[in-house]
Amino acid sequence: MDIKEMDKVTPMREKSSCLLDSYSRRAFLGKAGAGAFLAGASGLLSPDLLGADVVPDPGTYQPLDLAKKVRIGVVGGGFGASFQWHLHPNCIVQAVSDLRTDRRNKLMKVYKCDRSYESLEKLVLDEEIDAVAVFTGVPDHARHCIAVMNTGKHVICAVAACFTLDEAEQLREVKERTGLKYMMAETSYYRLYTIAARDLYNQGAFGELFYSEVEYYHPVDEAFRRRYWYYNGKPTWRYGYPPMHYPTHSTGFLVGVTKERLTEVSCLGLCAPEMEGYGTGRNQYDNPFNTGVALMKTDRGHICRCNKVNAGTNAGERAQWFGTKMSFFMPSYVSGQPFRMHGPQAPKWTKLPDYLQRLPKPMRVKTGHGNSHTFLTHEFIAAIVEDREPAIDIYESLAMTVPGIIAHQSALKGGEQLPVPSFDRAMS
Ligand SMILES: NC(=O)c1ccc[n+]([C@@H]2O[C@H](COP(=O)([O-])OP(=O)(O)OC[C@H]3O[C@@H](n4cnc5c(N)ncnc54)[C@H](O)[C@@H]3O)[C@@H](O)[C@H]2O)c1
Repeated sequence: MDIKEMDKVTPMREKSSCLLDSYSRRAFLGKAGAGAFLAGASGLLSPDLLGADVVPDPGTYQPLDLAKKVRIGVVGGGFGASFQWHLHPNCIVQAVSDLRTDRRNKLMKVYKCDRSYESLEKLVLDEEIDAVAVFTGVPDHARHCIAVMNTGKHVICAVAACFTLDEAEQLREVKERTGLKYMMAETSYYRLYTIAARDLYNQGAFGELFYSEVEYYHPVDEAFRRRYWYYNGKPTWRYGYPPMHYPTHSTGFLVGVTKERLTEVSCLGLCAPEMEGYGTGRNQYDNPFNTGVALMKTDRGHICRCNKVNAGTNAGERAQWFGTKMSFFMPSYVSGQPFRMHGPQAPKWTKLPDYLQRLPKPMRVKTGHGNSHTFLTHEFIAAIVEDREPAIDIYESLAMTVPGIIAHQSALKGGEQLPVPSFDRAMS
């Protein structure tokens, strides 16, 4: 769910040549040879990370084959109008769609595209489209992504991947049957601080990362409800939406850094203050909560405290990660917590590396949600051009989404600890 002020906060499982892994590998190989990267992976820090006031080389963009173009269709002219498909050298915006005329027009203007359709259902029939960006409401995501893949097109979808466990199963089945690319546009994955944490994790800087606190605070006040809960006087999908069914901006900070899986969850829910729209029979989800606070266990025996809070006076998406060798604190403009890395061997960076260098030149622009939008745009296009799985593939997406679905069930049972089913690829 969008929240403009959050932007103020911030200025590898299969054929995993995924963008960042390959970038960090290249940066290390370039500086110190293969040995340094491998040493980093086994727990020895590269000399690059140890020096005072050193900001490591972020790595540079390796141009893709410009002869290969991805013709994309963009659906959903709210949040879906804030990506950079038109700036990517390997992408052509072939068509756009929204049920609403005003939003169709907006998409056509933003993406400089003169072909539009009245619905996703019509757009997917266009044989000149290779891939579709689905930015519709969460309860429609699985249905829409399945419709896209069933017409032979790759798909990138806004979070969360799905609303139910049945949908998770169907999504995985269609993706595996068709072999098309599926990616979830999880913004926390490419926040610049998350990129730093992931690179450091992959280089062994954390030691054992045994505990994390991941959180997303989004006050749903009167003004927000008036703006987003109704359209033409009718409730939208956001009306009374259960917070833990939107967990990925929190869970993404752990799954997106370590790739571990959340296997058990105990969650408490509440509604504070008493608020219109929450409670049994008061919304289409029968959801009583605007706040969810969960304790989760991982497949590596680690602990994660995961919050999704739609009330109160905090705002922002952030994490703090605790390892045996160092801890890493993302900043919070509300609490005043500065960016900090702590521990005897923690890097002494004065600022983040300039990760925008990893993008094609026209994409090095300021974007929303911690500057993640250009990275998401590029990763999806690059995965198609290079014919590899995207970094946030179907398995990572479901590993970020499903624990929240179970957390909500746990909260409805007063915090009972429940197992989280795995939707990973079955090992052959
Ligand atoms: N940080 C983030 O990752 C982030 C931020 C904001 C929103 N989102 C997600 O992005 C998605 C879109 O958010 P939003 O705020 O724009 O929501 P929204 O409900 O305002 O917009 C969804 C749009 O999809 C259109 N739509 C629905 N069904 C359609 C169909 N069959 N064909 C064509 N158009 C259709 C609607 O008309 C609407 O304009 C949501 O899933 C939301 O959760 C993510």
